[in-house]
Amino acid sequence: MTYRLALLPALAFIMLGMIPALASAASPDDQHTVTSPSQVNQIHVTIQDGVPMYQLTRLGEPVVEPSPLGFALEEAPDLDGPFAISDVHTEAVDTTWEQVWGEEQFVRNHYNELRMELVETEAPERELVLVFRAYDDGIGFRYEFPEQDGLEQFRIADELTEFRLMGDHEAWYIDAYQWNRLEYYHENTPLSEADTVHTPLTMRTDDDLYMSFHQAALVDFSTMTLENMGDHTLKSNLVPWAEGDRVRVDDTRVSPWRTIQLGDTPGDLITSRLILNLNEPNKLEDTSWIEPAKYNGIWWEMHIDKSTWASGEDLGATTENAKRYIDFAAEHGLDHVLVEGWNEGWDREWYEGGTVFSFTESVPQFDLEEVASYALDNDVRLMGHHETSASVLHYEDQMEDAFQLYDDLGVRAVKTGYVGHGTEIVRYDDEGNERYEWHHGQFMVNHHRRVIELAAEHEIVLNVHEGVMPTGLRRTYPNMMTTEAAIGREYDAWGEEGGNPPEHTATLPFTRSLAGPFDHTPGMVDLHFDEYQPDNRIKSTLAKELALYITIYSPLHMVADLPENYEERPDAFQFIKDVPTDWYDTKVLNASIGNYVTIARKDRDSDDWYLGSLTDESGRWLEAPLHFLDSDTTYVAEIYRDGEDAHWEDNPYDFVTEEQLVDHTTTLDLRLAPSGGQVIRFRPATSEDLEQMEHPNR
Ligand code: NOJ
Repeated sequence: MTYRLALLPALAFIMLGMIPALASAASPDDQHTVTSPSQVNQIHVTIQDGVPMYQLTRLGEPVVEPSPLGFALEEAPDLDGPFAISDVHTEAVDTTWEQVWGEEQFVRNHYNELRMELVETEAPERELVLVFRAYDDGIGFRYEFPEQDGLEQFRIADELTEFRLMGDHEAWYIDAYQWNRLEYYHENTPLSEADTVHTPLTMRTDDDLYMSFHQAALVDFSTMTLENMGDHTLKSNLVPWAEGDRVRVDDTRVSPWRTIQLGDTPGDLITSRLILNLNEPNKLEDTSWIEPAKYNGIWWEMHIDKSTWASGEDLGATTENAKRYIDFAAEHGLDHVLVEGWNEGWDREWYEGGTVFSFTESVPQFDLEEVASYALDNDVRLMGHHETSASVLHYEDQMEDAFQLYDDLGVRAVKTGYVGHGTEIVRYDDEGNERYEWHHGQFMVNHHRRVIELAAEHEIVLNVHEGVMPTGLRRTYPNMMTTEAAIGREYDAWGEEGGNPPEHTATLPFTRSLAGPFDHTPGMVDLHFDEYQPDNRIKSTLAKELALYITIYSPLHMVADLPENYEERPDAFQFIKDVPTDWYDTKVLNASIGNYVTIARKDRDSDDWYLGSLTDESGRWLEAPLHFLDSDTTYVAEIYRDGEDAHWEDNPYDFVTEEQLVDHTTTLDLRLAPSGGQVIRFRPATSEDLEQMEHPNR
């Protein structure tokens, strides 16, 4: 009640479209409120006993109870109060910006901001700024550290931000600080059973409010994990440096945004663009060289043990084999061909770290120049590969030459990799001592940005494996195209569980994918590889494999199976050839976390829509109302679905393709087999189609 009253004056200003300075001489106990444009979410900020506290309410109901903000510092007094408010500003923003590529072309950035300047009431009387943004789809807040005496360069010992929640909500998460980085299946438990977790952390309340906790614009800072403090309280836990401090603040005077996305359905989280909106606009002047694409490559055959990365007679990366993949890409309109194992280093125990790789010397069986120019002659490009084995300094020594080499050869996309134990990245401190860094600490966050900037100088887009979780930096650097940062496809080939469980791909859209594009490497049409890996398989139907191109967003999607397998299944392959990787719009039609999802996306370059739907191990019927289609157009629905007897376990290839006319009034029944799926391409019907096929409304 108190907040509602307090928010009225601020609201009045916002509704009048003014930009008020609320109070320049506010008393320390003042409460300030910022409300989202449609008055859905409110952030209330107070100073209680000198400590800044924020609270989040949605439609008047508390979501986060008053929770403290601040930092503990090393070798300096903590930045945790007592503070007084020295100035407060609000601002209403409503703009629309265009993505270079994305899930939708135009993104509305519509929020109200509260900027609160604080000053310590005791010596050393330092200043700290808090910035809060209220959106209808969630909130973000960040800290600013103004340049001042006593706060030049400093080290953060701990971030004191808390999220005091209202109950023991159902949560989906992976644990932080594990040796295998982000490569774990999501846990689904009450929040009280979580320990310290990575973000995005997804939650559902008993009242069916859906939330995702994450961060935006992670620049020159360390990754925030969330520590369970008990009593429904999470606290920021920043991934530390080897020496134990968490962030070294120098030129960058802002923290990343701490974000909470909110929705009444799980699908609302998927269509929220809050993370992107909280990142800086595109910094690259010319983006004409950045193109969404599909790629195939010498990759899966190593994971299933058909060939090897190491040299010898089973080497996958031979000149001849690369040309075979290039021929296939050229024939079927794929844009890049990835070749892993092309360079010196794979013969050694590379996955145990160590400075094994050369990023400029190819193995004798692979003629890099010949393959790159063969690709160009065929209107395809080689995709480069830098597996760093997480030997980051060794990679940085060669990085300039490595990107220059690819640039000279016409390569426009590079896949990087950081296979290695979660906390064994070698760095040397100022005394020359060897130190071991986490994959997600500030050292690595800064490394990844250096790679992005260097790649941009060479007009190269990146596909990063084993990197940090995306935080929307793709808006600022659109050459940062896609990332793995999760258990991806290769666990189907050799994972101890015999392949990813059916619910994995029904969980990812609501967890990992909320952070940004995911290089999952879909498109398997041969679901068993007994000849090579008899204990593993892909636990899906064929139709479900196709759905991944829609349900997992990535502007760079792999066509991951072997060319010979696509030749066996031209019907399913037709969809993989047709499906675009760049969208004008995205709609979520059905969503249940870990159970099923149906997403429709409109192609950015045509009038076509594409729908993808998939389910976990339970078969189900879902309805797909086609309201999103243009109301003046009749479409042909090209349907690729599970057959009547399909089942991932014993009949995964039972698969049907069929066509029918539809329009925006049609509701389709999607029948999904256990771990099954369905995809549909909707294309405007030609006059011939209209003559030959029965009209839905006739
Ligand atoms: C792990 C990556 O995720 C995978 O795609 C790659 O093939 C291997 N590392 C080797 O670099």
